[in-house]
Amino acid sequence: MQTIVLATQKGGSGKSTLAISLALAAIRAGHNVRLIETDSQGTLSNWKRRRPYAAPVVEPVYAAREVEQRLQSLDREGVTVAIVDTAGGVSAATNSAIRYADFCLIPTRPSIADIEATAPTLRVVRAWHKPFAYVLNQTPIRSAARLASAENALSDEAALDIGDILAKPLIVMRNDHQDALSAGLAVCEYAPCGKSAEEIRALWQWIEMRLGNMAAAGDDPIIEELVETPAILPAMAALPVMANDSALFLRAPARA
Ligand SMILES: Nc1ncnc2c1ncn2[C@@H]1O[C@H](COP(=O)(O)OP(=O)(O)OP(=O)(O)O)[C@@H](O)[C@H]1O
Ligand SMILES: [Mg+2]
Repeated sequence: MQTIVLATQKGGSGKSTLAISLALAAIRAGHNVRLIETDSQGTLSNWKRRRPYAAPVVEPVYAAREVEQRLQSLDREGVTVAIVDTAGGVSAATNSAIRYADFCLIPTRPSIADIEATAPTLRVVRAWHKPFAYVLNQTPIRSAARLASAENALSDEAALDIGDILAKPLIVMRNDHQDALSAGLAVCEYAPCGKSAEEIRALWQWIEMRLGNMAAAGDDPIIEELVETPAILPAMAALPVMANDSALFLRAPARA
């Protein structure tokens, strides 16, 4: 099973919307998908209530200490892709999700404030040596200069070549995303022939290709270069989490 975690502390960057869209794209690509909601705000559960179809199952897992356990049991149940939506901000559940991720997606809008706000998430992702990519979301339909400047800012933030860390394609801001959510649908169901659906399908293909490359390489060489002293770990212990949860953080990662 591949676990894909959408995380960034900035609210409204598109974590939940992309989690839903990618889940449906993955189902259509033949995967057995489970959506895991670690955000008690409940965007996925609310969407599921509006949804006219049974699949995909949305599972709320709000306690950090249950994330690993649940992911392991999903693997045994034959789920092939788990997509984890996380809350904005920094939380114990988000940190646990990142810790057990195979791949982290960091959605961000193309503005400097949004990109700078990804730094705390990036530090956690790096502390656990996780492969990651940014997804530039809600990009203006025509603004080459703004996008080039966003790409430079992302490259600076991660100190890496943009080609290695920016998922393709960019996801343009379009009403289809919001209308699909209101209808309990994903964008590839709401407007299957539209540009947004096309972008999401291409994004899923990019993710699958990246996962495939990582599996073929045995490990991600980019991540090896990124190994930093996990100075973030003591900081995590100071987070307002239950004692059991901080113990969970500070144990060596099982699958890193
Ligand atoms: N590409 C897009 N085009 C248009 N609207 C979008 C796009 N992506 C997300 N949105 C809209 O932006 C809003 C915020 O998105 P979403 O709830 O997915 O963000 P989030 O990162 O999950 O926020 P939170 O941190 O509060 O959970 C929603 O109304 C969503 O429909
Ligand atoms: Mg959300």
